[in-house]
Amino acid sequence: MKIIVFSTCAYDQEFLNSYNTGHELIFFEQALTMQHVVLTQGADALCLFVNDLANAEVLAALRENGVKLILLRCAGFNNVDLEAAAELGIKILRVPAYSPEAVAEHALAMILTLNRKTHKAYNRIREGNFSLEKLMGFNLHGSKVALIGTGNIGKAFYRIIKGFGCSVVAVDPYPDAELVAEGLRYVKLEAALCEADIVSLHCPLSTYSFHLINKQTLALFKKGAMLINTSRGGLVNTHDVISALKSGQLGYLGLDVYEQESNLFFHDLSEDIIQDDLIARLISFPNVLITAHQGFFTREAMQQIAEITFSNADAFVTGATLVNEIKP
Ligand code: NAI
Repeated sequence: MKIIVFSTCAYDQEFLNSYNTGHELIFFEQALTMQHVVLTQGADALCLFVNDLANAEVLAALRENGVKLILLRCAGFNNVDLEAAAELGIKILRVPAYSPEAVAEHALAMILTLNRKTHKAYNRIREGNFSLEKLMGFNLHGSKVALIGTGNIGKAFYRIIKGFGCSVVAVDPYPDAELVAEGLRYVKLEAALCEADIVSLHCPLSTYSFHLINKQTLALFKKGAMLINTSRGGLVNTHDVISALKSGQLGYLGLDVYEQESNLFFHDLSEDIIQDDLIARLISFPNVLITAHQGFFTREAMQQIAEITFSNADAFVTGATLVNEIKP
């Protein structure tokens, strides 16, 4: 099958080439937009990542070019119009779970960095500054954590953070019986936000969860609490978190995802003038840590993404059951 792969970096090409089960792969560095649909002529399938845009207009144009299948090499699918795809007969397959521990461990890395300021200590020591002034953190042991979403990643995160001796409450419309048996308490969003020293988002972005963290919900946070978002940028209203950081209502912010990340993340813009004033403001805070959507980025996860992507492609070709199909 001829597969056009969008949004590729050298590491994507390396892993996809290594695990290819015999498909013709054509790589593009660009993200898919309407402008790039022209590149898909003659393709059977596309392989897309988090910032490729597959809205109704793009999907209709892809269908005209003969595309029958979209292989998402990620779990989230908020960038795809599933209803339009279904109407056009384009199948959407994804990688529902690939090393959820990779993202959960990254969320923990963000918490530890923001709390214990190891990034600042690293720089200080290199400059011969051995002072501890302004490096004080707090014990994770005994801290209260609100877990929003207890699917694959939330579950992995719960087990890690429980090991640190945190007391955890969770919010999820579908409580996980296994986690309840392990002692996890599910509460309403409002109750979880009021209690927590740390709020960690692990739910998908949908019309229901868009701007879940906004002026009103931030007002419920304990003053000075920490917010970690390793899920999707659209879960957080960026204007509102900036206001909350300025007032001190929000004490720490860790973002691995950002609402407008598609223009920034995965690119080296070190010689460019950043035009996005919101991210520039976020970067200026001493209590904000931003990483460029690297939660998934471990060897183990990259291998699983490649393997599952090709098993999805092979199932489509052979007519086997599409276990990883997503429907509206
Ligand atoms: P999952 O589908 O296994 O679990 C999501 C959970 O969130 C489900 O239990 C669902 O019931 C719950 N949920 C849905 N709406 C909710 C709401 N409004 N409030 C609370 N809970 C809600 O997904 P998984 O694999 O755990 O991934 C979670 C998210 O992490 C993905 O949707 C994706 O956006 C993000 N992600 C980020 C990566 C990164 O590199 N930073 C890599 C992979 C995923």
